[in-house]
Amino acid sequence: MAPMSELAGSSDLPEHVARNREAWDRYAPDYVAAGERGWAQDEPTWGIWRIPESEAHLLPDELAGRDVIELGCGTAYVSAWMARRGARVTGIDNSPKQLETARRLQEQHGLHFPLQLGYAEATPFPDASFDVAISEYGAAIWADPYRWIPEAARLLRPGGELIFLVNGTLQILTIPDLEADGPPTERLVRPYFGMHRFEWPDETSVEFHLGYGDWIRLLRRSGFEITDLLELRPPAGSTTTYTNLATLDWARRWPCEQVWKARRAR
Ligand SMILES: C[S@@+](CC[C@H](N)C(=O)[O-])C[C@H]1O[C@@H](n2cnc3c(N)ncnc32)[C@H](O)[C@@H]1O
Repeated sequence: MAPMSELAGSSDLPEHVARNREAWDRYAPDYVAAGERGWAQDEPTWGIWRIPESEAHLLPDELAGRDVIELGCGTAYVSAWMARRGARVTGIDNSPKQLETARRLQEQHGLHFPLQLGYAEATPFPDASFDVAISEYGAAIWADPYRWIPEAARLLRPGGELIFLVNGTLQILTIPDLEADGPPTERLVRPYFGMHRFEWPDETSVEFHLGYGDWIRLLRRSGFEITDLLELRPPAGSTTTYTNLATLDWARRWPCEQVWKARRAR
């Protein structure tokens, strides 16, 4: 798959990338407020429950002077948090509209780093350009893992760290087909075996979710050693604006979000 340039039209894109570009350009206005809130914070918070970094421990201990790529950066608040910790950050995202918000927030906060229009399955960066690759609900769920995980391995230097936050497997298995039918229940409503590409009936976008064994085998054969799997549990009393994705009671009993951490083999 050839790297795309800023000028590439959507007809040159893989089918799911074109569909997700159209969808995310449409969703972008709904993500402006979260982007503004994220950029305004000093302490990173993660996922739909906004769990503080001091509890979640996603980020590497040392970021100063390290080259970091955020894959599917959206409004780029995660990139901003890392840039403020001294990292040399680059963000890549598939949605021109999301990047528009990111560029406006860069101006507003006087914090600039490269933002690239493109997709995580085939990026325009040279091999071994980064020490850390991170994604919070970006490439992590919207890019095809069988393409973006090997691409992340290509981009990372030996010993480089990959960190990505995705929906919990049990959440994906229990959430109703239609958003209007509310948050996940205690009933498995779809098969675990064969998890990969998801098209929700009320959306035009395409998501990707794998089962545990498939994630482990994909990461290992792409040259990663798995260093952790964090299963995020919101603190009692947490709130979320994403009420269709989980109730607090559900998320206190089962992980509705999980974070894979892996290291590129030396
Ligand atoms: C939910 S946002 C993630 C950013 C931010 N952390 C957040 O939670 O708002 C999802 C982003 O993934 C981007 N995206 C979708 N498919 C992508 C792909 N194949 N490569 C890179 N970015 C992609 C979308 O354009 C969107 O900006």
